[in-house]
Amino acid sequence: MSVGSSRSEVPVLEVRHLGRSLPLGQDRIEILTDINFLIPPGEFVTLMGPSGSGKSTLLGCITGLDTPSSGQVFLNGTDVSSMRESRLAGIRNRTVGMVFQAFNLIPTLTARENVEVPLYAGAWKGSPSARSEELLGLVGLSHRLEHRPSQLSGGEQQRVAIARALATQPPLLVADEPTGNLAAAQGAEVLDLLWRLKETLGTTFVIATHDPSVAQYATRTLQLADGRLVSDAPGPRAPGP
Ligand SMILES: Nc1ncnc2c1ncn2[C@@H]1O[C@H](COP(=O)(O)OP(=O)(O)OP(=O)(O)O)[C@@H](O)[C@H]1O
Ligand SMILES: [Mg+2]
Repeated sequence: MSVGSSRSEVPVLEVRHLGRSLPLGQDRIEILTDINFLIPPGEFVTLMGPSGSGKSTLLGCITGLDTPSSGQVFLNGTDVSSMRESRLAGIRNRTVGMVFQAFNLIPTLTARENVEVPLYAGAWKGSPSARSEELLGLVGLSHRLEHRPSQLSGGEQQRVAIARALATQPPLLVADEPTGNLAAAQGAEVLDLLWRLKETLGTTFVIATHDPSVAQYATRTLQLADGRLVSDAPGPRAPGP
């Protein structure tokens, strides 16, 4: 638990000289160029920047959905950028949860079963079913355990996705436009929930967004432009409880 932790602790996330380029004919296009930042435990970070500036690519390089062309990504002090896929899967399962704009729940599974998936994948020691119920209670969905995604509202589906992302108790949760498919009121509910989870579980959040209402929650704001980190500033909120 990192609530109230000192800044001398190991950063939850550190990105060093990260670059991502792709071949384009004879050339390569640079999507991310020399990105550097370090995030201590307990921050609520928003990643802002125009469409195409590289936000999703950066999150992909952090979570392992994408592979950096250069540089390093450290999760809780472990360099995951040079790690083999077999070891990486286990580390990722325990250290970083991911939430998407489109929820990405499995449509044939109930809310409870969706949250259980990473627990089975990561060989969770306790009862997956009990853990799933606990998490769904934490996101206010104890009354929706046996509902399938199509029987849930958008805000409810996103809350199931958040419960799933936190199931293995990762210190870091990364979200790509988590309010992008939600009406304003549902989006606000999801943001209040994420902030509360930061306070109660000590989870660190990194959230890519265009939504100015998300930016108001940030204890730290990163700005990308053309694949470069052009600003890294504290606030507008204070990180403490
Ligand atoms: N697989 C790919 N092949 C070619 N270009 C790509 C690929 N993936 C991303 N890009 C390019 O990389 C750049 C950054 O894309 P990215 O999706 O990371 O931006 P973003 O900041 O998340 O944008 P948005 O706000 O619209 O979600 C864009 O110019 C995009 O076209
Ligand atoms: Mg994006």
